[in-house]
Amino acid sequence: MTQSSSELLAQLRRNSMPYRDPLARVDWEALNLESFWLPEQALSLYGLDAYESLPLERRQALSRYEFLHFIEGALWLESLFMERISRALGDDADLSRTAYRLHELREEAGHSLMFLELMRRSRLPMPGTRFRRFNLANLLGRHAPYESAAFWIAVLIGEEVPDRMNRLIRKHRDDICPTIHDMITVHVIDEARHIAHARETLGNTIDRLSPLQRALFRPLMNAVFHQFVRAFYYPPPRVYELAGLPDGRHWARLARTNAHHTRFVDQCLASVLHVLEEHGLKLRWRSP
Ligand SMILES: [Fe+2]
Ligand SMILES: [Fe+2]
Repeated sequence: MTQSSSELLAQLRRNSMPYRDPLARVDWEALNLESFWLPEQALSLYGLDAYESLPLERRQALSRYEFLHFIEGALWLESLFMERISRALGDDADLSRTAYRLHELREEAGHSLMFLELMRRSRLPMPGTRFRRFNLANLLGRHAPYESAAFWIAVLIGEEVPDRMNRLIRKHRDDICPTIHDMITVHVIDEARHIAHARETLGNTIDRLSPLQRALFRPLMNAVFHQFVRAFYYPPPRVYELAGLPDGRHWARLARTNAHHTRFVDQCLASVLHVLEEHGLKLRWRSP
């Protein structure tokens, strides 16, 4: 471990204390079904004439199911992180790294409990998105060696892309349900540390790759990136149907060609693409 890595770890560990359970940091009493859970600007249909002419309750319902779809994805990602962090614990004799990993594990477990609590309290049916089916991302996330560049690129994508979305959502505090705003705030604060750690670790692994390795790597990472972005930002037909929009396939198709949504997704992806490019890995996103 380099000196700057160990200083960063010490700093992140200090910032992780004292720990406050996310379940206790969210105002659950403010949860209600008469509000937007995501700001309209973040919705997949926002900006389309067909969306603008929907009644308010329908648009609010869509925001709830798109948010539930999003946190189903977050639960899947966090389960992968937790699995990998726990497996790495046993292999490392470095106490400061072990301590940092335990902080991260505790924080991710807290986030997942917070998502489950929202699901329970909402009493809404879940979209049941099969994130586990996204095979390439699952394969890489579960089996790439913990110290490899491939693994840390996947971690950075998995943490940074949803985080950008959370940060954009937070700018619309007055437009969304306060409970959701609390949840997103808790997540953004903890995630800033996880991302700092992921960026540092990624730098240490990716800079060791030769130009040839990087060139071989690119198509694989691009495919993972595409799967991931499609899964998170383009809800499946069931999400629309749960929101009371029959023929979900039709709406899912509209979302894929929605220029407003493409711009929103581009904003969410800009920072991770920039970080990877700084390390010589140029990925490209084309809307589906
Ligand atoms: Fe998290
Ligand atoms: Fe995280």
